[in-house]
Amino acid sequence: MERAKRIGILTSGGDAPGMNSAIRAIVRAASAEEISCLGIRRGYSGLINGDVFELTRNDVDGISRRGGTILYTARSEEFRTDAGVEKAANVCKYLGIDGVIALGGDGTFRGALALARHGVRVVGIPATIDNDMGCTEYTIGFDTACNTAMEAIDKLRDTGQSHERVSVVEVMGRNAGHLALYTGIAAGASAVLLPEKEINLERDVVDVIRRGCIRGRRHHIVVIAEGVGHATRYAKDIQEQTGLETRVTVLGYIQRGGAPSARDRTSAAMMGLRAIDALKSGEGSRVIVSQNGQFFDMDIEEALKMEKGLDEEMFIACNRIDTSYYNNGTAGK
Ligand code: F6P
Repeated sequence: MERAKRIGILTSGGDAPGMNSAIRAIVRAASAEEISCLGIRRGYSGLINGDVFELTRNDVDGISRRGGTILYTARSEEFRTDAGVEKAANVCKYLGIDGVIALGGDGTFRGALALARHGVRVVGIPATIDNDMGCTEYTIGFDTACNTAMEAIDKLRDTGQSHERVSVVEVMGRNAGHLALYTGIAAGASAVLLPEKEINLERDVVDVIRRGCIRGRRHHIVVIAEGVGHATRYAKDIQEQTGLETRVTVLGYIQRGGAPSARDRTSAAMMGLRAIDALKSGEGSRVIVSQNGQFFDMDIEEALKMEKGLDEEMFIACNRIDTSYYNNGTAGK
C-alpha cells in the first residue's frame, strides 16, 4: 500500500484531556515527514460535511496544555448510516486524504472500521476518560479525569467532615467502573460501588459506615460509578439506614475538562507518533494501543473484539484499604 501524503485528523465522541497533545505530536511528526495535515472539525460529522482546514506546525504551538480538543468533537447520527459513511469516504477521496487519524473511544473506533471498509485507511487513537477499551490498558484522558475527580472529592471531604455527613459522589465512566475504582482508592472512599460488581447496600456501605462510626468516624465518602446509577436513591437509603445526614454530588462534566496531566500529555504524544508510523508503514487500518508500558499498533477489527474487565487487583486493594466487604465478607474486618 502507498504511504500517506495527506492525512486528516479528527476527534470524536466525548472529549478527553490530552487529545490536543496527540494532535500536536501528529502534526509535528507529519510535517517533518512532509505529510500535510487537515484538521477535521466535529468528528465524523465534519468529515461528512467537508468541514476541514489546513493544520500547520504553528497551529499546534502551545496546545498540549489545553484541555478539550481544538478540533471540536461530536457524536454523528448520520455517520451511523451506511450512506453517511459512504459520503465521508467520498469526501476523503475528493480532498485527497489518504489516511485519517481518529481519536476517541469505542464508538469512534467502530466508525473508523466502517470508514476503512469503504476504502479509507484509518488509524485510531484511544482517547476517553472512561478507560474502557479492551485493546488497550490506557486511554488518553483517564489520568486527568481521575485527578480531577480526586481533587473534587478532597474538597467534598472538607465540608463532609465539618458537617459529619456522608458524601455520596457519582463519578463518570459510562458502563464501566474503572474511573470510579481508581478515584475511590485515590480519594480514600469508604465504599465504591461499581457496575461490574453485585451490590449489597447493607453489606458494602451501611455496615462499613456503622463500623466506622463505632471507631469514632462521623463522615464518609461513598463513590458510585455512573453505570450503577440511582445515586440519589442510594443516598436516601444510606441516610435512613445509618442515621447520618447524606448529600449527593454528581461530578459530571468537570471530569472531562482541565489541563491534561503529564501522563496524559506524554501518552498522547507517544500514541500520536505511533499513529504517524502506522500510516507511514502503509499497512491497512490500525489502532494504537498501550500494553505493558509499550505503545504499538494492531489490527482494528481485532482490537474491537477485545473486552476489558475490571482490574481485579485494584478492586481487591480497594477493599483491603477501604474496609468494604465486597469480596468474601472478610476484607477489612
Ligand atoms: O465517554 C466519556 C463520557 O464522559 C462518559 O463517562 C459519559 O457517560 C458520557 O461520555 C457522556 O456523554 P455526553 O457528552 O454525550 O453527555
